[in-house]
Amino acid sequence: MSEDFRRAGVIGWPITHSKSPVLHGHWLKRYGIEGSYDAIAIEQGRLESGLRKLAKKGFRGVNVTIPHKESVLALADSVTDRAAMIGAANTVYFHADGTMGVDNTDAYGFTQNLRQNAPEWDAKAGPALVLGAGGASRAVVYALLEAGAPVVRLANRTRVRAEMLADHFGARVEVIDWNRASDAMEGAMTIVNTTSLGMKGQPELNVKFDAAPKGALVTDIVYNPLITPFLEKAMLHGFTTVDGLGMLLHQAVPGFEIWFGQTPEVDHDLRAAVLSA
Ligand code: ATR
Repeated sequence: MSEDFRRAGVIGWPITHSKSPVLHGHWLKRYGIEGSYDAIAIEQGRLESGLRKLAKKGFRGVNVTIPHKESVLALADSVTDRAAMIGAANTVYFHADGTMGVDNTDAYGFTQNLRQNAPEWDAKAGPALVLGAGGASRAVVYALLEAGAPVVRLANRTRVRAEMLADHFGARVEVIDWNRASDAMEGAMTIVNTTSLGMKGQPELNVKFDAAPKGALVTDIVYNPLITPFLEKAMLHGFTTVDGLGMLLHQAVPGFEIWFGQTPEVDHDLRAAVLSA
């Protein structure tokens, strides 16, 4: 193995379903980079020793998925502001000086997906409505606030989770009752599903788009199926929709760029490669 050979990967448990190896593998091949990107199973409770081993093996870094996204923060020597604010990290960098930095690129992925696929979208155009207050929601709420949404309305089945998130992010986040989610579409220019509803094998997300304003942008972080019943309904109402696959693709860009020294492109070929995997 030459000295130029660069290694990275994704850690989690379970890890077999991760799309990241296909995604990064596509870019490695496309840019002719001498390197590898592997799925590495690390159980809960073995994160610290697992990371140490990878650093020792010469890994440049890793993506991090369930169940380590929160716990990795405490092990890092440096944490970006956005990762600290979101309360989770998805990207780890092993620096040459032996320190470990972590970042969260999910919010970046969310915003870039909208910018690429709905260039006319402007978070500042009006209030946003976010359905769901789980882990993914934190990154989405952060992204919307960063992009300038005047208000983020947040509805979650378990109201207290939405309240905790609103407390964390401050006055621009307004908690809405779950059963009022359809009414809260009134005036909402960005409407996002961050719940797991609509995912293959899950029930549908039952909301009505009647109150949503003309020009609203509707997006889902679920990408299996690519067109969720939620997006389908929004399309029938004539709204611009963006599917969730792009968020996955774009969140991978910063890590690839640093580990492999090449800014990768998110394009049709990459989408096709990930979809056919
Ligand atoms: P993730 O990290 O992917 O966001 P999560 O933290 O488990 O996963 O959050 C899942 C989200 O989907 C939550 O907002 C959850 O609502 P609760 O906080 O009330 O659990 C939401 N969700 C899952 N199943 C749901 C259902 N049947 N009805 C409404 N919301 C649901």
